[in-house]
Amino acid sequence: MMTHTAEFTLAADDREHIVIKPSVLYVGTPVALITSLNPDGTTNISPMSSAWALFDRMVLGLTSTSKGRENAIRERQLVLNFPSPDLWPKIEALAPTTGRNPVPLHKEKIGYRFEKNKFDVSGFTPQVSDLVRPLRIAECPIQLEAEVVAAHAPGGEWPAERQEAFWIIETRVIRVHAHRDIVIPGTNHIDTGRWSPLLYVFRHYFGIGPDLGRTFKAEA
Ligand SMILES: Cc1cc2nc3c(=O)[nH]c(=O)nc-3n(C[C@H](O)[C@H](O)[C@H](O)COP(=O)(O)O)c2cc1C
Repeated sequence: MMTHTAEFTLAADDREHIVIKPSVLYVGTPVALITSLNPDGTTNISPMSSAWALFDRMVLGLTSTSKGRENAIRERQLVLNFPSPDLWPKIEALAPTTGRNPVPLHKEKIGYRFEKNKFDVSGFTPQVSDLVRPLRIAECPIQLEAEVVAAHAPGGEWPAERQEAFWIIETRVIRVHAHRDIVIPGTNHIDTGRWSPLLYVFRHYFGIGPDLGRTFKAEA
């Protein structure tokens, strides 16, 4: 049933949507591999997808118990490495691992294991960064070197039954590396016909579909 007013038509009777309680709210965000420096100078890799960008900032949500969170807060530096869709098996090889030893209890219960060398586990190739100490991941077409500028706990109440919380880590990107194959020659623009992020959608991996159009602000 529709309600008609002078300004708009209101859908009063919603039979199309149903109320659900999903276990996660991951509607679809790019996978990023966070490389961070371990206390012994080696580099850890943490797969994640809770990241967004505005201006020169990338804001990350990292669980409190992750090695990546610990390293990022201590060292104030990290690299965001963005993989292409074909790399998803390497990311899935990293998925049940943590650089934390001992493995946090809530992770041990669901089968996570400690792995010291995430490059070996995944088969990714390390690459020296320009401005930060954590290594980059050579196979990732976009790599963002960043410094941590702020970090804080989430607002509001945290459910008592959840042992792990998360931190909101604000980073400033200080260098952008893009593989030459995805850059429009002679420009600073990414060729969106040649770059696809790997998307994490309700715990499944996807590439992107065809280009549907461009926003009025698009420069290329
Ligand atoms: C595709 C994917 C996306 C993930 N997204 C996040 C995320 O956004 N934030 C987070 O803290 N953990 C995320 N995780 C879980 C971490 O990878 C996991 O906690 C891992 O043990 C972190 O490694 P670390 O303890 O060595 O840092 C994700 C895992 C996968 C496979």
